[in-house]
Amino acid sequence: LRIAVFASGSGSNFQAISDAVHNGTLDADLQLLVCDRPQAQVVQRAKQADVPVFAFLPKTYSGREAYESEILTLLNEKEIDLIVLAGYMRILTPVLVEPFYGRMINIHPSLLPAFPGVRGIAQALEYGVKMTGVTVHYVDGGLDSGPIIAQRAVDVQEDDTEDSLAERIHAVEHELLPLAIGWIAAGRVKLDGRRVTVSS
Ligand code: GRF
Repeated sequence: LRIAVFASGSGSNFQAISDAVHNGTLDADLQLLVCDRPQAQVVQRAKQADVPVFAFLPKTYSGREAYESEILTLLNEKEIDLIVLAGYMRILTPVLVEPFYGRMINIHPSLLPAFPGVRGIAQALEYGVKMTGVTVHYVDGGLDSGPIIAQRAVDVQEDDTEDSLAERIHAVEHELLPLAIGWIAAGRVKLDGRRVTVSS
């Protein structure tokens, strides 16, 4: 399975995938990092891991469709089978979502459909839920709304701050995302409408 990771920030999930590939627990080829912030830490991580990087500045393009078309060409050249959004902070257009429907996944730091969007961890704390978690899902045209592949719960503790809760959520993400990619790589994941089944 040839994968491209899209990320915008620190890239700890990119690192978890890259480490899993290198230590043999994930049977996949990490072919490309796509990053919309050339200064982001994830770019350094990719260079360190010898993963090719396409970093671009969105404002130098006429619009989202323009850079996504360029990315699509690159994905096709590299024969990418799966896109993994791991902290990619941009909404995608149909230019990428349509050709990759069923072949693009995202990791989100809540138990969807609760708390979609960029403030999933803070909103869970503010709301006062006793349990939140992590979701890996297929990407559709909406915001964190696609079919769910895997979820893990994380308890909210009474003395949690956004930082302490984020730390425990991230630790779970770093296990669940490589695991779910591995299921897909092994051909175990079937998408049927909104229902996703994982065979053993
Ligand atoms: C993660 O919490 C992920 O769920 C969210 O963005 C964050 C990315 O963190 N979509 P990192 O860049 O992988 O460290």
